[in-house]
Amino acid sequence: MCGIVGYIGSEQAAPILLEGLKMLEYRGYDSAGVSVHDGCRLNVIKAKGRLQALSDMIDGGKAVCGACGIGHTRWATHGKPSDENSHPQVSNSGNIAVVHNGIIENYLQLKDFLSSRGVKFHSETDTEVVAQLVDYYYEGDLLKAVHKAIDRIEGSYALGIMAADQPDKIVGVRKDSPLIVACSENGNFLASDVTAVLKHTRDVIYLDDGNYAVLSLKGVEIYDSFLRPIDKKISHVDWDISSAEKGGYEHFMFKEIMEQPEVIRKTIAPRIRNKKIVLDEINLSSDFIKSLSKIYIVACGSSYHVGMVAKYNIEKLTRKPVEVALASEFRYCSPIVDNKTLVVCISQSGTTADTIAALREAKRLGGRVLSIVNVVGSTIAKESDDVIYTWAGPEIAVATTKAYSTQLAVTYLLGIYLADCLGTIDKDEYERFLNEIMTIPDKVESILKGKGHIQYLASLYFNNQDIFFIGRNIDYALSLEGSLKLKEISYIHSEAYAAGELKHGTISLVEDGTLVIAVATYQKLLEKTISNIVEVKARDAQVLSLTTESGKPLVGQVSDNMIVIPDIDELFLPSLAVVPLQLFAYYVALMRGCDIDKPRNLAKSVTVE
Ligand code: G6P
Repeated sequence: MCGIVGYIGSEQAAPILLEGLKMLEYRGYDSAGVSVHDGCRLNVIKAKGRLQALSDMIDGGKAVCGACGIGHTRWATHGKPSDENSHPQVSNSGNIAVVHNGIIENYLQLKDFLSSRGVKFHSETDTEVVAQLVDYYYEGDLLKAVHKAIDRIEGSYALGIMAADQPDKIVGVRKDSPLIVACSENGNFLASDVTAVLKHTRDVIYLDDGNYAVLSLKGVEIYDSFLRPIDKKISHVDWDISSAEKGGYEHFMFKEIMEQPEVIRKTIAPRIRNKKIVLDEINLSSDFIKSLSKIYIVACGSSYHVGMVAKYNIEKLTRKPVEVALASEFRYCSPIVDNKTLVVCISQSGTTADTIAALREAKRLGGRVLSIVNVVGSTIAKESDDVIYTWAGPEIAVATTKAYSTQLAVTYLLGIYLADCLGTIDKDEYERFLNEIMTIPDKVESILKGKGHIQYLASLYFNNQDIFFIGRNIDYALSLEGSLKLKEISYIHSEAYAAGELKHGTISLVEDGTLVIAVATYQKLLEKTISNIVEVKARDAQVLSLTTESGKPLVGQVSDNMIVIPDIDELFLPSLAVVPLQLFAYYVALMRGCDIDKPRNLAKSVTVE
């Protein structure tokens, strides 16, 4: 969603702000703006649309003088994308400029309060009240004015704030929305995400909720919520900028699909030592595991789809009930959680607002929270009792691929680990699972080598209006992800159905030429799925099947086209089967000329409810 960059130093600020915002484009946005102090006044330039439009207006930043500024990419919540609603938002007097990620929940009350004191508002945003409120309290000390304003503000925020009469100062503050600061030789930075500063430094400080930062030419000072100075640990980001660049690929999504063998290996291999799964980053006692009455998996989007696969697998392995919930539903459905419940939160970004809220609710109810997270030090990672990181590296394309695959890998490790502790699998099975899991990276690699065939299939079907996915058991969980991937980036209407459920309604939409993608990898239910394929064939559907080497002879008899993946133990099939579905979505979107890495209306990290 929205992105923040701030800079003060010896260089011209505007080009640095634009460059930082470019690195944040992947988060999804619909307008952008900068505010730069030229020594006399604050210049504010904003534009609806892509960052390029803003960059063109200011000649790549060259047209704006000054070495201190803040910039923002906005994903509209309060008020449609427009120049007026873009950030920075500026107070009436023109003295205060604000960039903001998050939502000010009591903005209407604050607006009433300020309006009754004669303040005029110019935008539909919640952010404008922050600029007006800080100005209302401003008496020459920016930090104190921000502190007073924050006292009255409810909601989530990462804020960057400047004052026209303080040409060399930026104040930052955060609650429930990420914000970092960083120092380099040529200046000091504020940003919502490390990728924005990686070109300048890899040493960053992650601010915590309630922290304030004051950036000046001298450096960065950090204060707690009572404005007492504090020291914070400097963290070194050990992935370099090339991980966040396209490296010769046309799209981040394609690059990230191709990186999957490597990141799956990185996620699994260090955790298997001497033929044992070693999860030394977590601290679940064997007594706790044995006493578990239930496992809850909570997540959003593709992470939720990982949870769907994990439910089938972990229940099968551990014989403990596993419930999967959408994070946005979990907190409002009176979940049954107690101190015998393990709540597994899955999140790539670690900042998804609904998943954070669900995590807090789970803890409030006494559950133990274990998270599977990609972004180190993110809110979800910090607030969980235990964290298992997915080593996917930075994922830039909005549509997740490699993070999904590494999340799956962690759920396998976790399921087998729990089952071993519970004694629900024997030694032979345990060994066989470990041997099989290690084959995933090479098998994914071999599937990627066959991408030409998937590109050909995409060329047959990219003009379809509707595409249905069907599957049973883990193939159903996978169908959900295949369908989501396709609709996210190609804008083709698509639905995923449990194959046996199709005839209870959705089959009425199947007609001559409708494409049905049948995911039929799960050997135990192959014949059942084949019956469902035959049902749609009888209604003249086109069937593209995804099956294994073992399933090929049967599935081939009822399909118009087929994608075949290598055999593997059924637990791990989703790791192989998802790859052709990702490639299919990618090639279809490519042929339709879509903006693959930045699909319309979507955001990489959804930081609002
Ligand atoms: C957004 C992204 C999805 C992601 C979902 C959950 O919708 O576009 O790719 O699956 O958020 O995000 P998380 O970071 O919590 O995994």
